[in-house]
Amino acid sequence: MKILVLGSGAREHAIILALRAETAEHEIFVAPGNAGIAQDATPVTLDMLDGAAVTSFANEHAVDLVVVGPEAPLVAGVADVLRAHGIPVFGPGKAAAQLEGSKSFAKRIMDAAGVPTGRAVRATTTAQVEAAFDDLGAPHVVKADGLAAGKGVIVTSDRAEALAHAEHYLPSGPVLIEEFLSGPEVSLFFLSDGDTVRALSPAQDFKRALDGDAGPNTGGMGAYSPLPWLADQFGSEQAFVEEVTRDVALPVIRQLDEEGTPFIGLLYAGLILTPAGVRVIEFNARFGDPETQIVLPRLVTPLSELLFAAASGTLEDQPEPVFSDDVAITVVLASEGYPEAPQTGRPIEGLADAAAVEGVRLVHAATASPDAPGGSLIATGGRVLNVVAVASDFRTARDRAYEAIGRITLEGSHFRTDIAARVAE
Ligand code: AMP
Ligand code: GLY
Repeated sequence: MKILVLGSGAREHAIILALRAETAEHEIFVAPGNAGIAQDATPVTLDMLDGAAVTSFANEHAVDLVVVGPEAPLVAGVADVLRAHGIPVFGPGKAAAQLEGSKSFAKRIMDAAGVPTGRAVRATTTAQVEAAFDDLGAPHVVKADGLAAGKGVIVTSDRAEALAHAEHYLPSGPVLIEEFLSGPEVSLFFLSDGDTVRALSPAQDFKRALDGDAGPNTGGMGAYSPLPWLADQFGSEQAFVEEVTRDVALPVIRQLDEEGTPFIGLLYAGLILTPAGVRVIEFNARFGDPETQIVLPRLVTPLSELLFAAASGTLEDQPEPVFSDDVAITVVLASEGYPEAPQTGRPIEGLADAAAVEGVRLVHAATASPDAPGGSLIATGGRVLNVVAVASDFRTARDRAYEAIGRITLEGSHFRTDIAARVAE
């Protein structure tokens, strides 16, 4: 198959590695990619936010499938343009992508579909924010309404801090004040063709910057899959997945379909398992990062078949995706100063040694080629790369991941040391 992947992060690298692992036959293009991805796909110069440019490229190169990685091209309507030209594309159109692009849109859809979520109040003034704080009580949860790269949310018992966060975002639009929900978090991905859904394996993401879930929220510092502890609460992981499919994914997909804006792509359900039941904290309209890096290595069913079936409305003909019994963990190597002010441009050493650890692969998030041939790769962003380790048990997977990340040198970099620590015990 000829596949064009849009995006430049570790999620896109993980998608490409999964496509590569199926067969050497695929011809894979990436726009724009990064230095690590360039080893596994052909980079093309293309503005991924320009639907007309992406369509021309896909037509000229007889691309069979376009996979949109990040949210920005989705919210910009790139999938709509491709679809209007008859090109199979995995990724929702602009309207359905509002599920991620606007938290108030997501709340409206959930209300209409009867999907369980936290109570929330939309505020456009400081007075409304204060009234919502009084109404909902502490701890306070404040969310910027639009896209904020995982940084628009604050959860704090410090009312002044919560108010300051709200006031930071208010000039650019409404904020949501949400009821605080407590419990373990689960990320569950659904492939959707607008009508039928197929669930992938549950994962857990570590969103805070520092060990012990301290520090600010980030895009994600690590993840693991599967979640063996789900069986304690739901009888089996399968029972959990079936419940969320029935109560969350299908009602949302049906609601969007009824509104004439079918969701074709990846529905990411961010869930909290509260004592009162499963609650949605957010939806994303694309694969999660870093969860994709540990879900896809466990996927046995060919990914291209699933993505193509979703893009072409034939998911019903696909059996449920099959996952291996192996476990996978990923640890993110972040630049000094991430998430507030990452220092970039520094060389990364030791990648070959790290990749040589058994069961380990390196998935690149923000790397660039050196200026001089033979030099080291350069870190170009906050989350630089993911060390992904697969093993038959979590203890071994952790040993492998931390052995590998210990072999990498990047001045000032940091990573969490407690990814999947509890589940490994
Ligand atoms: P979001 O961007 O909506 O996923 O929020 C980022 C993180 O903030 C989530 O992963 C949760 O850890 C936390 N969070 C969001 N909403 C709530 C809530 N209502 N109650 C408690 N924590 C929340
Ligand atoms: N891991 C969180 C996200 O992809 O939004």
